Amino acid sequence: MQLSSAYKEIAAHLETRLQEALAFDPELPHAPVLEAMAYATLGGGKRLRGVLAVLSGDLCGVDRTRALTLAAGIECLHAYSLVHDDLPAMDSSDLRRGKPSVHKAFDEATAILAGDGLQALAFELAVESGLSAKGLKAFAIAVGRHGMIGGQMQDMRAEAGQIAPSFEALKTLHAAKTGALIQFSALAGVYLSGDQTHEIALKSYGARLGLAFQIWDDVLDVDGSVEVTGKPTGHDTNKITFVTLMGVEAARAEAQSLVDKAKTSLANFAFKEVADFAIRRRS
Ligand code: IPE
Ligand code: IPE
Ligand code: MG
Ligand code: MG
Ligand code: MG
Repeated sequence: MQLSSAYKEIAAHLETRLQEALAFDPELPHAPVLEAMAYATLGGGKRLRGVLAVLSGDLCGVDRTRALTLAAGIECLHAYSLVHDDLPAMDSSDLRRGKPSVHKAFDEATAILAGDGLQALAFELAVESGLSAKGLKAFAIAVGRHGMIGGQMQDMRAEAGQIAPSFEALKTLHAAKTGALIQFSALAGVYLSGDQTHEIALKSYGARLGLAFQIWDDVLDVDGSVEVTGKPTGHDTNKITFVTLMGVEAARAEAQSLVDKAKTSLANFAFKEVADFAIRRRS
């Protein structure tokens, strides 16, 4: 799918903001962790969460500089989650965004520290964006024990056969693992501005998009290629995913139906583009 120049422009500004946040002095005694943090975050990734945060800011009348700072924080948080997700103790993936995963390019200890450092930097940037205390709490909840971390735990337990496969279990898992951060990104403008006019629409858009996004990630694991996705495929055969539960065709249809619903929640071009991108992307 060809992305609009508006999406590409936001992604480019976000890249610049991230470069600024991750710049480091190679002479520092802890330079390797700084290098690993930059390696994990820069020059790759679709930036869907960050772009969504900026679009949400635009909708709520937030100054772009503030929105880009929070978006950079969200992308740092996301990059950390990928570094840890790829570790041998978790998904054991050696390739990420078409490059060796951080624990391969550096080593495991450095990857763990780089992830930790990116998580702290994410909150530093969120504070710098002027996010309210309420917004900071929402960010922490989205990525914390009942959000992304809780979802990662459920994912591991499901893979070990400790959670019975069902649609209910899977929806709960996906909503926590991937949905919560995507929904927080969609709500970024509300938290930055304090203006709740669009809160209900952004919330329902974010929930639908988040689930569709993870279903599509699971679809790409079976019908994507390592060259295009930039990460190993065929990795999820022992996990509970929409594909393992209902088959790839039904999973595609479910993702499409969620995207159609997301587009009814927010019908402007930019949000519709992000929703379509979530299930047209090949990486
Ligand atoms: C991958 O996220 C991890 C999931 C939550 C499915 P993305 O597909 O957004 O990864 P990048 O940032 O584009 O590499
Ligand atoms: C990762 O989900 C979700 C988080 C990192 C929180 P996956 O394990 O499916 O992501 P990929 O496929 O490795 O990108
Ligand atoms: Mg995983
Ligand atoms: Mg993984
Ligand atoms: Mg995956």
